Amino acid sequence: MVLSTGDNRVRTAVFISGTGSNLKSLAKFSKTKISPISINFIVSNNYKAKGLNYAKEFKIKKKVLNFKNKKLSENKLLSILKKNNIEMICLAGFMKILSKNFIKKFKGKILNIHPSLLPKYKGLNTHQRVLKNKEKYSGCTVHFVNARLDSGKIILQKKVRILKKDTESSLGKKILAQEHKLYPKAILKVFNL
Ligand code: GAR
Repeated sequence: MVLSTGDNRVRTAVFISGTGSNLKSLAKFSKTKISPISINFIVSNNYKAKGLNYAKEFKIKKKVLNFKNKKLSENKLLSILKKNNIEMICLAGFMKILSKNFIKKFKGKILNIHPSLLPKYKGLNTHQRVLKNKEKYSGCTVHFVNARLDSGKIILQKKVRILKKDTESSLGKKILAQEHKLYPKAILKVFNL
């Protein structure tokens, strides 16, 4: 991705649905000198998302859209993002699937983080399925978003070893801790930094 001219930080929106721990890690990263992005907008489909509290903490604008009518919500969102000069989107635990039309408008500019070693375990309940299949490793992946679920070009992955004693919850925590490091690294990679 090429850095835009003028203010050389790329104006980015983070989309969340829940806790927002990846949003927090991205917001912290965006404050560092090496960050090529600034976080200027938070979007949630869920007004109860805990992560929305980071809007206040980091002084970032926010918007909640319920996505009950996807087309309507996406159209509103596109106009808000345009108004705020948003150039890039980071999905961070955003549990809605964006339409082809929306993705086309931000072609090559939407990243997602997924809690598995893609292309394995696309979709939901990854840790549960990984444990059921007695995998030795799982991990997380940052990838570009295309029209097919969890299928866009992989940017970076981090492997995590699964121990016999691991539960869905312990594995989830281990992977989440790695996600917080992986997302900023993947962003640096996207900008060839
Ligand atoms: C993260 O583990 C993220 O990888 C996952 O949701 C969690 C959100 O945590 N995303 C998906 O499963 C997307 N399919 P957070 O709200 O604390 O960042």
